[in-house]
Amino acid sequence: MEYNNAEFLFETEVPQDQLIVSRTDLKGIITYANDTFLEISGYTKEELIGKQHNVVRHPDMPSAIFQNLWDTIREGKQWSGNVKNLRKDKGFYWVHATISGVYKDDVLVEYKSIRVPLSLEEKLKSQKEYDQLKKNNNEKTRHIIYK
Ligand SMILES: Cc1cc2nc3c(=O)[nH]c(=O)nc-3n(C[C@H](O)[C@H](O)[C@H](O)COP(=O)(O)O)c2cc1C
Repeated sequence: MEYNNAEFLFETEVPQDQLIVSRTDLKGIITYANDTFLEISGYTKEELIGKQHNVVRHPDMPSAIFQNLWDTIREGKQWSGNVKNLRKDKGFYWVHATISGVYKDDVLVEYKSIRVPLSLEEKLKSQKEYDQLKKNNNEKTRHIIYK
């Protein structure tokens, strides 16, 4: 694991008994975020609604994961995977996300995401896997500096 910025190292714990929920339009613009999402991400509702969902994208996440996410949900399938997200204060939180379409009268109208916490082992496994994926794709990885 490599980091270049100590400010990225503060983790927010995701509660076991609550779901982090959001919905987007078909272009990935946030249309709804529940109170747990607001609390964990550190944003207000006003700051999130109308923004692209990449507002919480963490720089440690490889592009290939999101490419796979969009390819999967655009085919009408459900995607699930581990995601490291960026808080407003540049801290982070890990979730296991499940994302799929919302249908009205059989027509796809939105996407929804439901997120639950990860164990420490799962976080470490995903971090290593994502670091490797970034390296394989020549994406910038970060270097840790302890002072
Ligand atoms: C319903 C839904 C929820 C999403 N949730 C997240 C999320 O929690 N974190 C995230 O980084 N991307 C999430 N995405 C993916 C973003 O739309 C975006 O593809 C990703 O942040 C990568 O940003 P980029 O496409 O600008 O590279 C979500 C997409 C959808 C449709």
